[in-house]
Amino acid sequence: MMRICICKDYNQMSVKAADIIQGIVKNNQIPKLGLATGSTPEGMYQELVKRNKEGLIDFSNTKTVNLDEYLGIESTNPCSYHYYMDEKLFDHINIKKENAHVPEGKSSDPIKAASDYNDILDSVGRRDVQIIGVGENGHIAFNEPADKLHLRTSVIELTQNTIEVNSRFFNRIEDVPNKAISMGIADLLDANLILLMISGKNKQGVVKNLLECQMLDTHFPVSMLYTHPNVILLVDEEAMEKVDDETMNKEIGIIKACDIL
Ligand code: F6R
Repeated sequence: MMRICICKDYNQMSVKAADIIQGIVKNNQIPKLGLATGSTPEGMYQELVKRNKEGLIDFSNTKTVNLDEYLGIESTNPCSYHYYMDEKLFDHINIKKENAHVPEGKSSDPIKAASDYNDILDSVGRRDVQIIGVGENGHIAFNEPADKLHLRTSVIELTQNTIEVNSRFFNRIEDVPNKAISMGIADLLDANLILLMISGKNKQGVVKNLLECQMLDTHFPVSMLYTHPNVILLVDEEAMEKVDDETMNKEIGIIKACDIL
């Protein structure tokens, strides 16, 4: 079941996501969060940092696991997801760094690094929530459109589309790694709640395809989220612009309006 929650704009989406995280962290002795990088969750992280400084949310017992990391760049490289997480969140909140996990992108043995990350996921256990963003081509984490999708954390080849889209974070497109370590689909789904966040004009096509798709499609990996019983899609009005009223008005079966707004 996917519940859809349409937010006025990016800011409202970020605040709503932070509200959900805050509730989960408050209500669990050892909260377990699955986190993502990219542009989409940045506003949510800012909001969480603010609330942590105001004493509204305490991360001292929280464990986190991130979706993915590029292969071949150091964690000190500002383009790495390690660096992103430190800069946007971990360095500014009271989380214990040993409880905040990101796959190891600079290992000389990437296959072992992927397998080690699966051990970490197994030891942390099922997450209370998993934050997920989506690529313009429908990828989730770095599970790219393909005939087959990995179940567990693996070494992944990035598509040209993803390399081009992500080159905005690098000085030159040649600097974008062409491989990553990424959680697989079974890992992504191993959470009590999936919070799928989608915002902005560039995502209009992917939102339309997601709401209109009638089948699971490995060439549209985000469709795999329909197999999870508890997904909240937080989407802003701009990303919804191409979805026609007919789609929204008709009984769309497994998609229901969300009551959290
Ligand atoms: C990030 C990740 C990616 C992004 C996706 C959307 O950890 O796994 O799948 O969620 O590429 O990125 P943004 O949010 O930059 O549009």
